[in-house]
Amino acid sequence: MSGFLSSHGYLNVLGVDPAPAMIAAARERFPAVEFTQLSDPPRTGLPDGALDAVLLISVLTCVPTDDGQRGIVEEAARILRRGGLLYISDLWLQSDGRNIERYEAGQRKHGVYGIFDLPEGVTLRHHERQWIAELTAGFERAALDDLDVQTMNGHAARGFQWFGHKR
Ligand SMILES: C[S@@+](CC[C@H](N)C(=O)[O-])C[C@H]1O[C@@H](n2cnc3c(N)ncnc32)[C@H](O)[C@@H]1O
Repeated sequence: MSGFLSSHGYLNVLGVDPAPAMIAAARERFPAVEFTQLSDPPRTGLPDGALDAVLLISVLTCVPTDDGQRGIVEEAARILRRGGLLYISDLWLQSDGRNIERYEAGQRKHGVYGIFDLPEGVTLRHHERQWIAELTAGFERAALDDLDVQTMNGHAARGFQWFGHKR
């Protein structure tokens, strides 16, 4: 997304990720864009109120715990200016049998319906509407769109785009 924004005229774009391989790949692909590896996520080290917008695109799905997600949204609130935009693009809970089976196994293991393990050893999360409302309650919601999307593994899924402003 940072590369896309940069190529569409946004001059002041910063991409952050705690994974060194993601940062290395992004720098190689978009040499003109600034990327920072987070050494102590979710802390970004940016000053309070520094940003006009924070975009979390498929980030929450990779940070499955309630506390992990709260930490990211709180950091976003800290670094956004008043009125600044938080944008979240992610996945809802799915209703097909394959997903329900893994949510049930995940609930037994992780205690939250929607958290599940992939055979590759990664733990992900799909989201209840109520949880997204709770997570973002400190913001003024501007819009919430439901979308048909494709997951990282190529499956059709129900996703969402959430837009809100810092109060
Ligand atoms: C599915 S990838 C999406 C990456 C990118 N947003 C994109 O659209 O190409 C999710 C990423 O979230 C990163 N991540 C995990 N914790 C994070 C945090 N606290 N802040 C920012 N990114 C984080 C993971 O390392 C992973 O690279």
